[in-house]
Amino acid sequence: MSEDKLESLLQVYPSGRQEYLIPALQDMQQQWGYIPEWAIKRLAAHLQIPASTIYGVATFYNQFRFVPKGKYHFQLCYGTACYLFGASTLLQELESMLGIKDGEISDDGIFSLEVGGCLGGCAQAPVVAVNGEFYGNLSLSQLQKMVENIKLEESISA
Ligand code: FES
Repeated sequence: MSEDKLESLLQVYPSGRQEYLIPALQDMQQQWGYIPEWAIKRLAAHLQIPASTIYGVATFYNQFRFVPKGKYHFQLCYGTACYLFGASTLLQELESMLGIKDGEISDDGIFSLEVGGCLGGCAQAPVVAVNGEFYGNLSLSQLQKMVENIKLEESISA
């Protein structure tokens, strides 16, 4: 990520034109996978919109993130079907094993966690995705094994 990259990205959008807020945020998200705080401040100055307004708009849309993803990005579905089939238990275990909560990234950058709505695999509830790969009908022990395997792999490669 670089400030130079942001400047060239902003050149696409005329200064002071607030209608370009969403496209500019989408560009940033695509560029870095999240929208850093310093980039929001610079965007606010460029489009002449208060940073607080930008946060308000951006948080309205689920597509925008404000923290980077970890090497292993866990998405836990908390939709109705997954909730009924034990998503809350899986969430407790993930928070405990990863040492982070929804929307956070671990200090070492290995794990990040995102809890959200239906991932589109209700028939296989509960569902967890890791780096976009789906795991359905996931039991607590399977989840524990998955995380343990990743931790083991990371400790070996460290
Ligand atoms: S509710 Fe979890 S995949 Fe649909």
